[in-house]
Amino acid sequence: MSKKVALITGMAGQDGSYLAEYLLGLGYEVHGIVRRNSVPEHQESRLDHLANEISAHYGDVTDQASISRILNRVNPDEIYNLAAQSHVRISFEIPGFTADTNALGTLGLLEAIRNTGSQAKFYQASSSEMFGDSVDGDYFQRETTPMHPVSPYGCSKLFSYHITRNYRKSYSLFAANGILFNHESPRRGSNFVTSKIIKTAVEIKLGLKNELILGNLDSKRDWGHSKDYVRAMHLMLQHEVPDDWVVATGHTRSVRELLELVFLQLNLNYEQYVKQDPRFFRPEELPYLKGDSLKIRSILGWKPEIGFEEMISEMVDSWSKKLSSGLN
Ligand code: GDD
Repeated sequence: MSKKVALITGMAGQDGSYLAEYLLGLGYEVHGIVRRNSVPEHQESRLDHLANEISAHYGDVTDQASISRILNRVNPDEIYNLAAQSHVRISFEIPGFTADTNALGTLGLLEAIRNTGSQAKFYQASSSEMFGDSVDGDYFQRETTPMHPVSPYGCSKLFSYHITRNYRKSYSLFAANGILFNHESPRRGSNFVTSKIIKTAVEIKLGLKNELILGNLDSKRDWGHSKDYVRAMHLMLQHEVPDDWVVATGHTRSVRELLELVFLQLNLNYEQYVKQDPRFFRPEELPYLKGDSLKIRSILGWKPEIGFEEMISEMVDSWSKKLSSGLN
């Protein structure tokens, strides 16, 4: 039997690199789209170890011609759209770019699928940020919870969520939405709160820094592990019908609780080092996320395997190794 072919946009990101690894392990031929970067050393560092096993294509979801060319060349069975301007606070500074990439980029991909007659199944990386300030009476968000986004990022993702549903119905595309809650790992960029806290705490421990400057410490998030969440993406495309799926752990913690845990693991007291600065607050904050993933657990049999404390320890170890060996 010939190998299944997957195409991943945003392959150089945290999720893209774990997904590429996972699909290779399942015997897929893996192709990915990577954007040109002026510093080639930063281009594919998460993919270095896979260099001989994957095919990387230069392209951009905002460049319709590049997408159609790659679709024709690769002829994928499955497309995972993970390309995004994924930082919520930065989306307030570059809302236009965020909307072009996260909203129109998705539309361009769907149009390319339709126009090239591709039979590929399509996964859209939708986000719990789409819920905004909305939560059900039992303090969970789920597939049926109304969505009221509170950031340009959330608004851009909500467009893509709806256009994916719209193309599913209008053109009978196999197009699925994964509504993923926050997910982290040692590969998480260091301007997201988990990595920022862990990296800086390790630097403090090593005597390289003496403070950690943050924004809002009271917001709550449902943090899972990226490795668990890429398995969910793949499962969604193996189901008989395309659908929308919440992926979450069902536990929520504040940024302050995360701080306490990380500093405690390093035998430090966070209160001695943490300062707050308006620079890191958002014009409008999403205060609370806790996901109910009953649907994907019961229908697709998915469940997270890596616990929160285990994930934090893995990230602390990884940053400790990198920083004490002088990397980063
Ligand atoms: N990044 C960051 N930096 N966040 C901070 C800081 C800081 O210095 N201080 C406090 N926070 C708070 C933010 O205000 C937010 O409430 C929380 O920490 C988490 O921030 P991020 O780690 O940046 O993630 P996010 O929740 O905004 O967005 C992530 O999750 C979404 C899913 O809900 C991203 O991965 C999105 O791409 C993803 O869609």
